[in-house]
Amino acid sequence: MDKFIITGGIQLKGETYASGAKNSVLALLPACILNSSKSIISNVSKVSDVYTMLKLLEHLGCSFNFQNNIVEIDTSSINNQFAPYELVKKMRASIYVLGPLVARFGYAKVSLPGGCAWGPRPVNLHLEAMTKLGAEIEIEEGYIIAKAKKLIGTKINFDISSVGATGNALMAAVLAKGTTIITNAALEPEIQQLAEFLNLMGAKIDGIGTTTLTIEGVDALNSAEISVIPDRIESATLLTAAAITRGKISLKNVIPNHLNACLTKFEDAGLKLTIEKNKIILDAENIDEIKPVNVTTAPYPGFPTDMQAQWISLMCLANGTSTVTDSIYFDRFKHVPELNRLGANIEVKENSAIVKGPTKLKGAKVMSTDLRASASLVLAGLAASGKTEVLRVYHLDRGYESIEKKLESLGAKIERVDSPEY
Ligand code: EPZ
Repeated sequence: MDKFIITGGIQLKGETYASGAKNSVLALLPACILNSSKSIISNVSKVSDVYTMLKLLEHLGCSFNFQNNIVEIDTSSINNQFAPYELVKKMRASIYVLGPLVARFGYAKVSLPGGCAWGPRPVNLHLEAMTKLGAEIEIEEGYIIAKAKKLIGTKINFDISSVGATGNALMAAVLAKGTTIITNAALEPEIQQLAEFLNLMGAKIDGIGTTTLTIEGVDALNSAEISVIPDRIESATLLTAAAITRGKISLKNVIPNHLNACLTKFEDAGLKLTIEKNKIILDAENIDEIKPVNVTTAPYPGFPTDMQAQWISLMCLANGTSTVTDSIYFDRFKHVPELNRLGANIEVKENSAIVKGPTKLKGAKVMSTDLRASASLVLAGLAASGKTEVLRVYHLDRGYESIEKKLESLGAKIERVDSPEY
């Protein structure tokens, strides 16, 4: 069980890069089930969630080769449609196999995703979409059992914007008979890339980049190749590391447009940004203060809930009080008590964190509880005086490819050590 030992107070400077988006590849991999062929996905981050997804696909009968950030996957020999609890409980995104399995085989038995650090995280929208497409859904002993002779195109409207449910509905509709229209579809770049990948396989999806997707079902899909878009959440997290240490970094291999909401908030906080085609420079060296900036998370292109924890860390240093509200997950605040152990002054009221700043953060031992919470603790540790120990960094490894190496290359004093502590 690894932990990070961070010696804070060092300004981060230099150049680093964004890796491939975890939340894109976690949709692109199960989409390959649909073409029962070979596909190549490049710029794949070596993060544990990717290995978890590959393990699940291998369990279904897929074979793959993953090296040099390239996945070659062959889905022609899938021999079962059963996604067991033991694998699904590790990662909610496993539910992405539901749509493709039903679309291709007419049957899927997928464990309901288990709990998560914050919740509830229901899957009703996924099941409603499958039912509307003609699948028969039963829940038996914690498993979703979905059957359909042939999925039939239909109209699907999502009451709330859902990344995963949009992804599942898309992957089911591409092989359905007839036309499917999805309204209030998620706009996240990762879902746009999934739709582009499906079209590269021969699907007929119109409206990509809008909230209305029209899908003409086809009989079969073929192999395709794609490079994963840069991770917008990792990008914003690395920029926050520069901001919170009053440093200056240049971030390459990034698509600035994918994190506009965060960039606007950085500027509102008084940070200097230079934005080029695939590069962002954030300069926090010569600013007088970090200004308090309120944030309310929202579906893309709004401020991402996956940056909520990291923003709270930055606001601990702001010169005043800010309110950070999560409108997507009302209780995604497990990082707050840990940040308060570092000397922060944050109070959670319903789904808002009231952050009083500026506070002098002081190193301490803190516990990661989930992926983005652990990122917020690392950020706070980089700014805190003295040593901070971040325990259970396996949470961080789910979505950041060797982040300590990137931070070290920017001058951070951060060490990964094996920790017997649980
Ligand atoms: C995706 O999760 C991301 N994961 C999450 O990132 C991200 O936090 C989330 O979208 C919101 O942006 C992946 O892409 C693998 P949703 P997903 O369905 O698809 C409710 C990370 O840190 N909802 O868009 O599960 C749900 O409770 C992870 O990288 C239902 O009510 O999220 C939430 O309030 C964490 N019923 C809202 O919709 C459903 O059937 C948005 O959730 C599905 C969702």
